[in-house]
Amino acid sequence: MSSSNLVADSDLGPVTRGIDPVKMARAGRRHAMAAEVGPKTAAPEGFHFDLKPRDVKEHLDRFVIQQDEAKKVLSVALCDHFQHVRMTLAGKKAPFYTKQNVLLLGPTGVGKTHLIRSAAELIGVPFVKADATKFSETGYVGGDVEDLVRDLIRRVGGDVSKAEHGIIYLDEVDKLAGSGSGGRDVSGKGVQINLLKLMEDADVPVVSPNDIMGQMQAVMPRPGQPPREGGATINTRHILFIVSGAFAGLTAHIRMRLALTGKDVPAGREEDLLESAMTSDFISYGFEPEFIGRLPVRVACQPLGADDLYDVMRRSESSLLRQYERAFAAYGIAVKWRADGLRRIAKLAATEGTGARGLMTVCERVLRGFKFELPSTRIDGFAVTRELVDDPKAALAALLKKGK
Ligand SMILES: Nc1ncnc2c1ncn2[C@@H]1O[C@H](COP(=O)(O)OP(=O)(O)OP(=O)(O)O)[C@@H](O)[C@H]1O
Ligand SMILES: [Mg+2]
Repeated sequence: MSSSNLVADSDLGPVTRGIDPVKMARAGRRHAMAAEVGPKTAAPEGFHFDLKPRDVKEHLDRFVIQQDEAKKVLSVALCDHFQHVRMTLAGKKAPFYTKQNVLLLGPTGVGKTHLIRSAAELIGVPFVKADATKFSETGYVGGDVEDLVRDLIRRVGGDVSKAEHGIIYLDEVDKLAGSGSGGRDVSGKGVQINLLKLMEDADVPVVSPNDIMGQMQAVMPRPGQPPREGGATINTRHILFIVSGAFAGLTAHIRMRLALTGKDVPAGREEDLLESAMTSDFISYGFEPEFIGRLPVRVACQPLGADDLYDVMRRSESSLLRQYERAFAAYGIAVKWRADGLRRIAKLAATEGTGARGLMTVCERVLRGFKFELPSTRIDGFAVTRELVDDPKAALAALLKKGK
């Protein structure tokens, strides 16, 4: 195979436009210095974050393609949260502060979880993520929502005051919709109600009432250490909640509302309708008004078209191409991605209707044979072209023949 056949790595490598780590470290230092000026009651140690919303978005841009609106909303919410944390830790009162809990919705596989995961890297405050589906109303089967708060404490090695300023991310929250909506059942409703209290202002026991061992440890004397406070609690007033879900079927409720109120259904794609979701739509979908009311910041992620999927492969630093490159490199095989091959993969993936997850589905199907056969040969490289994507079997056979 001639090397002119291949596109140089640099051509199709990731486009890195990240924020300068030095700048970020400096920002952290500046923040630490600013905090020193505040009253000594403050304990801002460990909260190094002085980025502006634009910086946060820039960081997200490195990993997540499109979803500009969601990136902006998240960037603002995170920065506001940090400013609030900083103020309260510096001993300043923030009367009438209302948390800006965020609801992220949109079709499957378009980057909702990915956005939060990427943001989590930047976060200096404790952060936990869980799937709403793992909780049950009673906490006997599955988890108890209060465990989320206790997880935050565990993250920071038991420092309750740090955990009180953390962020809780709850995924798959649409599965908590009550019955009659394609959602779960009454138990989902019970979880919503338990979450309500946490989302606003609740005191959660630091040791779970169901945790017999923990309860015993809490009261047992520890040699050489001060006695633990019995019945210690953590307050959730300053914990930011971010929830997300695909909300499949919500558009039907939006359409119905628009029809009933005599409004025109906006033209465009079905998924674009999600942007016009109102509180009443979520309620008819199966959510408690109090639950949805505590999520004032709402933003919809957009579906990804073939061009976006091409960018996901080409430009995202988390591109799955790197994963394939590593897998082949482990056997000394270099994969080169040709632009026409990637375009083809993107097009096929778009028809899967599973967002960027479709890319993996297509790549697996196309490269399966190569992954199986090539490690046992002396072939040390190949190019993923449009022809290869369209007929991987023939391309593999030709490659093996040549490699003999
Ligand atoms: N906009 C995007 N930019 C870059 N990569 C993306 C994007 N969207 C999705 N991906 C990739 O696809 C994978 C799946 O995306 P993600 O987990 O964010 O989906 P989701 O929107 O949370 O879907 P679901 O509603 O099914 O949970 C991610 O791990 C990421 O690698
Ligand atoms: Mg997800």
